[in-house]
Order: sequence, then C-alpha cells, then structure tokens
Amino acid sequence: MTAPLRILLISGSARRDSFNTRLLDVAAARLHEAGAEPQRLDLGALALPIYDGDLEAAQGQPAGAQALVDALAAADALLIASPEYNAFPTPLLINALDWASRRPGFKAAAQGKPVAMVSASPGTLGGLRGLLVLRNFLAVNLGFLVLPSQFALGGAGKAFEAGGGLAEAARLEALDAVLAELRATATALRNPAA
Ligand SMILES: Cc1cc2nc3c(=O)[nH]c(=O)nc-3n(C[C@H](O)[C@H](O)[C@H](O)COP(=O)(O)O)c2cc1C
Repeated sequence: MTAPLRILLISGSARRDSFNTRLLDVAAARLHEAGAEPQRLDLGALALPIYDGDLEAAQGQPAGAQALVDALAAADALLIASPEYNAFPTPLLINALDWASRRPGFKAAAQGKPVAMVSASPGTLGGLRGLLVLRNFLAVNLGFLVLPSQFALGGAGKAFEAGGGLAEAARLEALDAVLAELRATATALRNPAA
C-alpha cells in the first residue's frame, strides 16, 4: 500500500487567533479527508532570532533552522498560509526560510518540492499581493516548485463559521482546487513512472 502523502503546513503568522492559521486548520481537515497526512510546523515555536551574520558566526545556526529543514525533508509537499504585511510576506516566514537556507541539507529538501500558497486577510484582496512576492522568493530564490494555483481569502473576519469551517461554499471549492493540485503534483513527483 502506498504511504499517504505527507504535507507540511506552515503559517506565516504566530498570532494566537491568526486567520491564516485558521485557514490551515480548514486545509488540514480537507487534506485528511482526502487521505493525505497533514503535518503542522509552528514557526513561532522554532524561536529563531532575526538573522544576523555576527550572531551566526558567534553562536552557530539555531536548532530551529535544522528543525525546519528536517520537516521540509520529511514532507512530500508544502502548504504555506501567510498574511501580507504592507503587501509583503511576513518577517516570521522569510526569516525562518533564510535561516533554513543556511543549513547544508536545505537545498536537497527544497529543490523541486511542490508548494501551494494561500493567504487570508480582513482586507478585500486577502493578502494576494504578498503571494506574488512569496512566489518569487520560493521559486526563483529557493528552488521550490510553486504551483500556479493559489487562494486568497479576503474579508477573513467574516469568512469562518463558528465551528472553524469556511462559511461560503465557493471559497471552500477554491481552496479544495488548490489542495487537489498540490496532492496531484506531489503524487506525480513521488511516482514519476505512473
Ligand atoms: C505591519 C502590518 C501590515 C499589514 N499590511 C497589510 C496589507 O498590506 N494588506 C492586508 O490585507 N492586510 C495587512 N495587514 C493586516 C493583516 O492582514 C491582519 O493583521 C491579519 O489578521 C494578519 O494575519 P493573521 O490573522 O494570520 O495574523 C497588516 C498588518 C500589519 C501588522
């Protein structure tokens, strides 16, 4: 029997009631229902300081950098949900990936790994502009395989049901389409001859 797809879910926000983390909760449930194995990684818990070359030279790379590389290496695919701050991905997310990119195993863990991006924001565009920058950062700079499909949840303050799901069926369908593309791509890459 084929092992379930391991999909690493990362939020670009460490805020307790983060809309992006809540969007990942919805995605995790959908992935689980589809037979995949969602795995969460809390970037805040990695406790990575802001990258500083002097700090790195004096103290080495923090353990959290390797923890992120290990999580990436163990995953068949990655799903990132990030807010935009001034139309840019969050410092939490960029800083974590910067630290991870300093580790020797990062390239092998990231190269060609399929990534789907989603975002959520109380604003109308749902963080869409940050995804454009994130796409470039992940694909061109770090070598991930970023999928064409993405999903931005605007008006996030009113988008969730009390139980945590998405209130509008059309938005759940849009999220599902991204997740389906991620699963299909990861499956194809795992079984290239199939
Ligand atoms: C410094 C800063 C800049 C922000 N810039 C934007 C922005 O450019 N576009 C937007 O839609 N929301 C922006 N916001 C609002 C965030 O989308 C909002 O705080 C959101 O709840 C953060 O995501 P989270 O709920 O996952 O923590 C900004 C918030 C902060 C703190």
